[in-house]
Amino acid sequence: MPTVIQPRDERTQPSRIVAGYPQTPLRNPAQPLVRRAPTLSELTGPLDAAKRLKLLGADIAGHGEKQAIGQLIHLRVKVLDEDGAPVGGAMVEVWQANGAGRYIHPNDDDHAPVDANFYGAARILTDPTGAFELRTVKPGAYPVRLVTHPVRPTSGWWRPPHVHFSVFGKVWLSRLVTQMYFDGEPLNAMDPILNAVPDPAARGRLLAKLVPPTGDPHNALVYEHRIVLRGRDATPAQP
Ligand SMILES: [Fe+2]
Repeated sequence: MPTVIQPRDERTQPSRIVAGYPQTPLRNPAQPLVRRAPTLSELTGPLDAAKRLKLLGADIAGHGEKQAIGQLIHLRVKVLDEDGAPVGGAMVEVWQANGAGRYIHPNDDDHAPVDANFYGAARILTDPTGAFELRTVKPGAYPVRLVTHPVRPTSGWWRPPHVHFSVFGKVWLSRLVTQMYFDGEPLNAMDPILNAVPDPAARGRLLAKLVPPTGDPHNALVYEHRIVLRGRDATPAQP
């Protein structure tokens, strides 16, 4: 089936303007979008992205005796297309805060401590079954600083624990930037970014599920998650 640009589904994708989050008008077009035919490069690329970009390991919870501080978790993620078929060879970039809710980024000067044994980013390829696994620590919640309040204190809005994903599917039209949340976290119900997705079922597709302990060899808590790149059951974007 030829790849086509699907119209945006306003119920399953986040609102462009989120009340109480002043950055959103800066990140979204103020004018209506212009429809145009996809170009050849959008229909055939990215080609060999993994050869151009260095892969970073799928274990970011520390190495050897130097373990990152926090609750050790093992994410098992499957990347699927609109037909439910696995997307093998997709390049997935992952970034997250450390166990105290702090990113390694110059924009993050929050009071939470940096963890010398936790960098917080990975670049992984899915296997032929569309799966990848990441050993990490559960990210901490962190306070959001609003543009209108460039210095602390913050608005009092805390982001729930979450992991950011950028997925490069087979073509540029199947690129997805999203976030994964942890089912059952109390802060999920109060997060303007997660709740910018109007449809509850679509919001549910952003939640990773805890798997009952079954003797994971890393002795970690195991979470499973699905990322669907396009179609009716697509995982909502979460920029
Ligand atoms: Fe974040």
